[in-house]
Amino acid sequence: MYDILLEVNRRPKPFSEYTARELWTDPHTSEQMLAYHLNENIDAASRNLGFIERSVKWIVSHFGLTSESRVADFGCGPGLYAQRLARADVKVTGLDFSTNSLRYARRKATDKNLDINYVETDYLEYNTDCCFDLIIMIMCDFCALSPDQRSLLLNKFHSLLADGGAVLLDVYSSSMFNRREEGATYEENLLNGFWSADDYFGFLNTFKYGDVRLLLDKYTIVERNRTRQVFNWLQCFEPAEVKNEFDCCGLQVDELLGDVAGNPYDPDADEFAVVARSKEGN
Ligand SMILES: C[S@@+](CC[C@H](N)C(=O)[O-])C[C@H]1O[C@@H](n2cnc3c(N)ncnc32)[C@H](O)[C@@H]1O
Repeated sequence: MYDILLEVNRRPKPFSEYTARELWTDPHTSEQMLAYHLNENIDAASRNLGFIERSVKWIVSHFGLTSESRVADFGCGPGLYAQRLARADVKVTGLDFSTNSLRYARRKATDKNLDINYVETDYLEYNTDCCFDLIIMIMCDFCALSPDQRSLLLNKFHSLLADGGAVLLDVYSSSMFNRREEGATYEENLLNGFWSADDYFGFLNTFKYGDVRLLLDKYTIVERNRTRQVFNWLQCFEPAEVKNEFDCCGLQVDELLGDVAGNPYDPDADEFAVVARSKEGN
């Protein structure tokens, strides 16, 4: 018992474990995630419906998307942005490793007669001969990645951009980092059964790594016959840090925004967004 509690409270090294696949593709949690995505009133897994509609309208207009434009949506989930972009007549490729979300996305596309290229893949391993006028990655998924994974992804973005193409993504801010507290809590069936259909005890340990502005929500789920841990890393950024990471991968941040719906940058907000283009494409 003491050893289990030691493990629950152990502070791991930054990005020592990558459990995103476990979180998003486990048959039970991916069902729960899909329900969050499709709840139009909350910002969990996807943002609320009003935001998504404003965002897609802004994206189409800001980037001047037409029926010739090719957009890649990295971590498209159930396709809430992809299907709206396709409805605006844009050519969309949606990438995700959640079978469950993509099953929903493909069904919706068929029902609505939308031609969307959904690819079930780990986006860190995605390769194609196509190139894109716009690459989007929405809901701060970039922040779950280690520095090496972010660099790999940004280099991939750089190689996939068409001439004059852009990247749009959002990240957590240093203000959010400053507001979050370390903590340890546990609850029977933590998050109302989110983690398993069977009874369990769920521990949530939040760690802050001040020197690198990193947060970790570490979940330990103890079921009768199984114990597992899921590591939700949340890298927080200053705008200059994002600019530097992009710069190292051949990308130049041209615009700093409050969010992916085009609102102005607010240094006190939890998140901000950037638009970047290839340095040589400018
Ligand atoms: C926070 S959700 C955002 C979904 C969508 N962008 C939205 O805002 O509605 C993150 C999505 O990225 C996917 N994802 C996370 N890591 C991934 C990876 N390495 N490869 C492919 N998909 C990934 C998850 O399955 C999930 O659908």
